[in-house]
Amino acid sequence: MSTLKKSLTELSADLETRWLVSEPKETPGEDTSALLERIQLEIPVALAFHRVLEECEETPLVDLGAMEKVGRVFLKDEGQRMGMKAFKVLGGTYALHRLEVRGDLQEGDTVTTFTDGNHGAGLAYAARQAGYRAVIFVPKVMVKSRRDRIEEQGAELIEVDGDYDTTVAEVMRVAKEKGWVLVGDTSWEGYEQVPRDITTAYSTIFAEALCQMKEEHGLEPTHVILQAGVGSFAAGGIAYCLEEQEPPPRFVCVEPTDADCIYENVRVGGDGKLACQGQTESVSAGLNCGIPAYKTAWPILRDHCSAYVALGDGWPIAAVRELHKHGVISGESGCCGYAVLMAARKDDQMREDLKLNDQSVVLVVNTEAATDPDFFDEIIG
Ligand SMILES: Cc1ncc(COP(=O)(O)O)c(C=O)c1O
Repeated sequence: MSTLKKSLTELSADLETRWLVSEPKETPGEDTSALLERIQLEIPVALAFHRVLEECEETPLVDLGAMEKVGRVFLKDEGQRMGMKAFKVLGGTYALHRLEVRGDLQEGDTVTTFTDGNHGAGLAYAARQAGYRAVIFVPKVMVKSRRDRIEEQGAELIEVDGDYDTTVAEVMRVAKEKGWVLVGDTSWEGYEQVPRDITTAYSTIFAEALCQMKEEHGLEPTHVILQAGVGSFAAGGIAYCLEEQEPPPRFVCVEPTDADCIYENVRVGGDGKLACQGQTESVSAGLNCGIPAYKTAWPILRDHCSAYVALGDGWPIAAVRELHKHGVISGESGCCGYAVLMAARKDDQMREDLKLNDQSVVLVVNTEAATDPDFFDEIIG
């Protein structure tokens, strides 16, 4: 059963849609340029690492065809990444490799992180493959299927009674006390190297996708829609596409209305450390983050996106259903890029602001499959 407090009918009725538009900065801030340079220098290393990683095969690019009023849509299906149902395993595997190369991870060490599910499962997988003990902190409210997925990889779980951000604080304290190596996918002052490696690792998704679009269809995206929790995934995608495509596509960031920390920082001109207004209890568990990765993702998102969208829970529920009709198995976080298109299809002003029309070529990423299968079945009905 889902741990959500509202019924599926109540959740489905929440079709709130907010967006902010922005022009990507011609002269990005110094923090952005320095960060992008560091990530982009490392991209070839990450791509080479995943290329030789035996179990890391290319995921499919699904051609969803023309969608009324918003153009041709391609979906990169990360639900099929390495048998782990989500893209996050790319970050875990590469982060451990880089820690080893730097001499920061030795035989017998324990690695740890906090997770809403996917990053923990990805790290547990990476630790098992590389022979490390993994202890994963999870919020008490996490559904059983997501816990099982982490434990199946041989990791130990520690429950924390609180939301994602409370969990982050607790794991930092315990990791320090026990001498465990923290492999977190969000950054703060003084904790930047590992989350930057993880951000860089996500470039593999976009390298594959742009190449598949070009080779299989002779097309480049005009728009790339990116889900944000803390923003690492989106920043990795932007960093890769900026290097690869000239002029770059328009980047659209999407979050749940209840966890809209990037949106909120943009709205008030914040510094990336501002918490979202919501309770981080949206249906999209993977995106329920209250504060952006302000050292490693926020500047890139602030300066390079052309729109920031916040969606109520009804949109991902509708998107899971619609993608299922296209033969795509998507979770409530995985489908949010596609959900933006569903919302835009119904709203002339939104399409105009996002510059979407019949000529657009849109890349969305299904970042996870059905990681909560009971809820998925309930949605599909
Ligand atoms: C399925 C899914 N999509 C997207 C994201 C967002 O990634 P990030 O937190 O790097 O913004 C997450 C994060 O856990 C996730 O699990």
